[in-house]
Amino acid sequence: MTSLAQPGTPNRAVTDDDSLTRDALMYLPAWQGLGLREMWADSGKEGLPFPLNAPNTTYFHTARSAIYHIVRELVNSGRHVVLMPDYHMGNEVRAVLYAGAQIVWYPVTREFGIDMAVLRRLCREGGAQVLFVIHYAGWPHPMDQLNALCAEHGLLLVEDCALALLSGVDARSVGTYGDYAIFCLYKTLPLPDGGVLVQKRHVFDDLTRLPLQRSGRMFVAGRIAELGLERFRIRYPRVGRRLFDVKQGIGRFLNALRVERIPVGDTGFNPSHVNVGMSSWSRRVLTGLDYESIRRRRRENFIALREQLPAQAAVRTDLPPGVCPLFFPLLVADKSGASRALRQRGVMATELWNEGDPSVAGHEGEDARFLRRHVLELPIHQDITNPHIEYMARQVGKLNVLLPSSSTIRAEYQTA
Ligand SMILES: Cc1ncc(COP(=O)(O)O)c(C=O)c1O
Repeated sequence: MTSLAQPGTPNRAVTDDDSLTRDALMYLPAWQGLGLREMWADSGKEGLPFPLNAPNTTYFHTARSAIYHIVRELVNSGRHVVLMPDYHMGNEVRAVLYAGAQIVWYPVTREFGIDMAVLRRLCREGGAQVLFVIHYAGWPHPMDQLNALCAEHGLLLVEDCALALLSGVDARSVGTYGDYAIFCLYKTLPLPDGGVLVQKRHVFDDLTRLPLQRSGRMFVAGRIAELGLERFRIRYPRVGRRLFDVKQGIGRFLNALRVERIPVGDTGFNPSHVNVGMSSWSRRVLTGLDYESIRRRRRENFIALREQLPAQAAVRTDLPPGVCPLFFPLLVADKSGASRALRQRGVMATELWNEGDPSVAGHEGEDARFLRRHVLELPIHQDITNPHIEYMARQVGKLNVLLPSSSTIRAEYQTA
């Protein structure tokens, strides 16, 4: 128990309970929110970053639809077999399977890398015609090596940049290396929806002219309310909490009325949504954002958090120039327990990919299983400020949730 006099409350001791009450007022949402300034910013700003300035793009409601469409074209043109990472979200795999492709799995390492020796062997053995890579949490793979491998074996390269918008190697953006790239926009930016397909080589013209359906007014209104509320709540946690309850009540009411809203996020792969396009509100917000400051803020938050946690606290702590991190990949011993405890203290920590697509069963490597079991996403997005970072680091320390030491865990997996 600390015993400090508080201004305005003479002779009153500050207890742990007091500090918990103060802490409970903090709210760190998993995703960035949207403010009026971004909604009504000047449109038509010069200098949109890649992929928003790229030719041959198609804007879908979600990135999984973009994956489905490009893989379906590849399958129809005779490229049926895709090399896919054993560590994945699940929806990208479902999109690939629904497009009619067969999958050969390659292993991902516990540092979010690719096991190049195994990938080379699989390429040499032949059979695959497409290599699908995921840039995890913003860290680019060694693309020159992967391009050379694809050229040697006649593979086309698809870069899944769903978690790596605004990221690159020095000044070169991810998604500019492969033949095709897919980005999820709403993960990094405060948009209702949005996934982009970029075709760099071997362009399928019909995809750039694909007739797409509208995403629906109720969906867009709901998402804008949600994003606005997140922005409000991070600044005014107490009132924001009440508004959040009201919003959830409205959502339940709309569900009861069976008002259809086409969701984004971890909601599975729904084939009837593959032809839905990005909303006009997302298009509008996209033109007015300050991309350089978003990237800078994310990098600064990542570095500040890294400095306040032990060196082995995350999957990766290096941050090469050009990388725009999506989240801080904390390594914890008990993922669901740590997530619950942090959420109770206002830190919306997300459990990253507890399970892959069922088709990976029996093909998952030791490192993918390790990542599924231990990685928790901590928010470091553009709405997070220095006091939030300090608070978050303090909670991680207090709760004692970190993975004790990587060597003991490696032994556990080798004997499993
Ligand atoms: C690696 C990866 N690819 C693709 C997707 C699909 O993105 P979307 O939600 O825009 O369909 C996700 C979603 O989380 C993902 O993590």
